[in-house]
Amino acid sequence: MVKAKKIIGIGGSPRRGNSEWMLTTLGAKLTQLGADVEILLLRKMDIKMCRGCLACEKGGKERQGDCAIKDGMAAIYPKLLAADAIVLATPGYMGMLSGLLKNFLDRTCAVWPRLAGKRLAGLAVAEEDTFQTMDNLKSYGKLLKMRWVGGVKALAKNPTDASRIHGLEKRLKQLAKKIAG
Ligand SMILES: Cc1cc2nc3c(=O)[nH]c(=O)nc-3n(C[C@H](O)[C@H](O)[C@H](O)COP(=O)(O)O)c2cc1C
Repeated sequence: MVKAKKIIGIGGSPRRGNSEWMLTTLGAKLTQLGADVEILLLRKMDIKMCRGCLACEKGGKERQGDCAIKDGMAAIYPKLLAADAIVLATPGYMGMLSGLLKNFLDRTCAVWPRLAGKRLAGLAVAEEDTFQTMDNLKSYGKLLKMRWVGGVKALAKNPTDASRIHGLEKRLKQLAKKIAG
């Protein structure tokens, strides 16, 4: 029996590329371990930029995801609240996480106090060096008092390169065990 039953994976690349392959491969491993996995690809969703209005703060620490912007996030907030673990996958862009994923993290302002204690894992891929990318994901988890369970970094450029990296699938399987365990 896995401890982290419900797992949400967030794909933060604007293309069907390396980080998305890593996320779906990890998701398949988690499913094999008996977890209930849902992968959300931000590139396919309507998620507008946070406006900084802070209307979400009215709910205080018990906030339910009441964001002034009515878009795809409305359906995601309950999924995040119900999850035992969240996996963030991102390409390294200018040494950092992608803008797509950063905006998603900003939009979690409407639920963030209630994500404390959930498990968090990261996937980061860049051509030459991921630089601060994984640390960006860890910092988010630290700020929210989530439990960082680990991450996998890879170096790849073109969309299918990661799928050909020797040993990467094994590293994803090891991470899956840590997330579910
Ligand atoms: C806007 C942009 C910025 C990038 N910045 C970096 C970088 O700073 N360092 C690096 O090694 N690769 C960089 N890359 C390359 C991507 O990280 C690389 O192609 C990666 O495989 C993309 O992941 P994806 O296939 O999941 O989208 C950049 C690519 C783009 C489009």
